[in-house]
Amino acid sequence: MGQTIVVVSGKGGTGKTSFTANVGMGLAMLGHATLCLDCDVGLRNLDIAMAMTDCAVMDFTDILTGNCTLEEAAVPHPKQHNLFLLTAPTRIGVSSIDKQAFRDLFPAINEQYDYCLVDAPAGLGAGFQLAISGADRAVLVTTTEASSLRDAQRTAMELNVLPENSVHMVVNRCRQKLLKSLHQTIDDAIDSTGLPLLGVIPEDETMSLHAGRGVPLLMTNNDCAARAYRNIARRINGQRTPLMKIR
Ligand SMILES: Nc1ncnc2c1ncn2[C@@H]1O[C@H](COP(=O)(O)OP(=O)(O)O)[C@@H](O)[C@H]1O
Ligand SMILES: [Mg+2]
Repeated sequence: MGQTIVVVSGKGGTGKTSFTANVGMGLAMLGHATLCLDCDVGLRNLDIAMAMTDCAVMDFTDILTGNCTLEEAAVPHPKQHNLFLLTAPTRIGVSSIDKQAFRDLFPAINEQYDYCLVDAPAGLGAGFQLAISGADRAVLVTTTEASSLRDAQRTAMELNVLPENSVHMVVNRCRQKLLKSLHQTIDDAIDSTGLPLLGVIPEDETMSLHAGRGVPLLMTNNDCAARAYRNIARRINGQRTPLMKIR
């Protein structure tokens, strides 16, 4: 039986979509059937981050309305056969999605895949509620910025509908230059959200380049952010992996 992990943050632009795409790839590279589900209704971009633009014809609402099956809508990654994308609709709003039917998708998803990563939209509105509704676990992505940390704290409170010990935090875009204050910031983040740390991802300027060129980051190198994403995939998978040094 697989598990569904929702990737959230209060604020936009903290790195949820990049996390979903890269940790999804990391889990797939470890040999696990992994579904990345874009739940950013109307503003989807997980396909770009996964280098799968134009691959998906059907979105998850096509399954809900009976237009197609899960197998038909979830498309395999062209270069990694364990990785699949189920995309979000672009032309309808969250309000017209049948919430119960959406939740009912997850037993079948967890039967077919070892992991499902759900890329949530920014904010704490209806899209966020929909995204967390099928989840067993959550990863809250924050940067070290004060505004992001405050949103993370607020978001953590919304996640107490999930089972205890099932919510973790990831601190993204950490810079070596700020290392002295970084330890303090990470400590503060853990204190303010009250969540255990799943990983720290360094700032990596090659990230957007990879997505833009259609080349998955984890397939080209093992430095910097790629290494951090791989380590996080291992931790999700229950392997003990020490925190890497930010260079
Ligand atoms: N660790 C990182 N280093 C450098 N750029 C990053 C990092 N994580 C995310 N980004 C960039 O930040 C931007 C927003 O990331 P994205 O994953 O789309 O955030 P969200 O889904 O939370 O809105 C993108 O341009 C992405 O390439
Ligand atoms: Mg996003």
